[in-house]
Amino acid sequence: MMIICDTTRSALGVCAGAALLMVSALSTCSTDTDPSDLPPANDDDDDDDAGDDDDDDDDDGATADTSNDTEPSDHGGLDEEELALAWADYDQYCAICHGDEGEGYKADGANALANGHFLAAATDQLIYDGIAHGRVDTPMSAWSVNRGGPLTHAAIDRLVKLIRSWETLEPVDTSSYVNEGVPERGEGPWQAFCMGCHGLYGEGGEYMSVAAPNFLDHASDGFLDFSVRKGRPGTVMPAFEGLLQPREIADLVALMRSWSFIEVPDHDSLGEATLNPDGDDPTFDDPRFVAVDDLKAMMDAEAKMIILDARPPSDYVERHIKGAKSLPFYLASQHAAKLPDDVWIVTYCACPHAESEALADGLIAEGLQRVRVLDEGFRVWLDRGYPSSSGVGD
Ligand code: HEC
Ligand code: HEC
Repeated sequence: MMIICDTTRSALGVCAGAALLMVSALSTCSTDTDPSDLPPANDDDDDDDAGDDDDDDDDDGATADTSNDTEPSDHGGLDEEELALAWADYDQYCAICHGDEGEGYKADGANALANGHFLAAATDQLIYDGIAHGRVDTPMSAWSVNRGGPLTHAAIDRLVKLIRSWETLEPVDTSSYVNEGVPERGEGPWQAFCMGCHGLYGEGGEYMSVAAPNFLDHASDGFLDFSVRKGRPGTVMPAFEGLLQPREIADLVALMRSWSFIEVPDHDSLGEATLNPDGDDPTFDDPRFVAVDDLKAMMDAEAKMIILDARPPSDYVERHIKGAKSLPFYLASQHAAKLPDDVWIVTYCACPHAESEALADGLIAEGLQRVRVLDEGFRVWLDRGYPSSSGVGD
């Protein structure tokens, strides 16, 4: 059992107030039971012992999930032939994990696609993007041909319409929701009520993730709020409305919003950016640029210098010159003071030098004199087969 009810970390009273929930709903986390075999962990229409007296307006028609009992109306405008193609793809690629009719949980963590509450709030974009690009570090693969998968744009579009046709509830407009939560305040409730199923940082655990970058790109705050308040009847995802205070739910939404399980480099370590601190200073022929071959020769000669990657951290994490630190061009003035002024700095990017020159100029404007720009850029560095690394380490 992973759920901890630690009152020192939880918001005051949260644990006590929801003890009932902890016992009834959350205990399903500790079992290995297939959630689709369990009775619904929550039921919107049920009475609410924890006092559901607040908010809410938009969706009280929400009934228990009957997704698979009702025959969808028009299949999102698919004609017979397209519908047959969509089902053929679904049967071939998706049913193995999401079930023959989208009921979910044929494989661990594969959510119910035919869930009324999911479909009421999810946009087509969220569904399309989930299929096309998957959820990084989970069993949900990227299925788009553009990612090496088997599905064309048209095929994914048909699947979205097929899934959409499993809708059983009126769509909920979540776009006007404004989140006023504070992420740090959400940590206690998260650890007490959510972590056991979704992982410490929402990376997924017993059940699905809530922090994949492309999920957060397409899940609005309103979608997150709706998912937490109303839960997913027919699955183990409880409805937290009435069990947690509106403020706590807002804080949880803010916390999820603040996450991404892509690790990014931190710029605080720039003070230790110098390569070969005991080496000699390199010498440059040009007052502005240095050629990739010359930079490589300087590295081989163990020259004392700093190499800075001027691109956004996403690029740095993907691949960077071995030994380089990340300092995006748009943060030059913010972090320049962390860099020593007596060590040569070489900046680079892939453009080949729009961002690297912007970074160099930003550093020079902050008083650093010993700055050069990699002339041909990172792509040529890679083409030459010179050393590179990925991830947050140098
Ligand atoms: C007992 C396990 C369990 C607990 C506890 C739990 N969840 Fe969930 N949650 C799930 C499952 C399972 C789903 C997917 C249900 C489905 O098939 O639609 C889900 C779905 C979600 C989603 C929608 C994700 C998406 O991609 O559609 C969000 C957001 C979410 N949970 C947040 C929370 C938060 C916040 C808490 C704590 C307050 C919490 N959950 C507690 C099991 C749980
Ligand atoms: C190997 C099992 C597996 C297969 C095959 C698979 N999925 Fe998934 N799918 C998952 C899992 C697990 C998740 C939850 C990922 C997570 O933790 O966020 C998921 C998530 C999704 C989501 C995102 C839901 C959300 O709320 O974010 C969509 C949409 C989806 N799958 C559709 C499909 C479709 C359509 C197919 C067929 C083309 C498919 N999946 C094939 C396992 C699978």
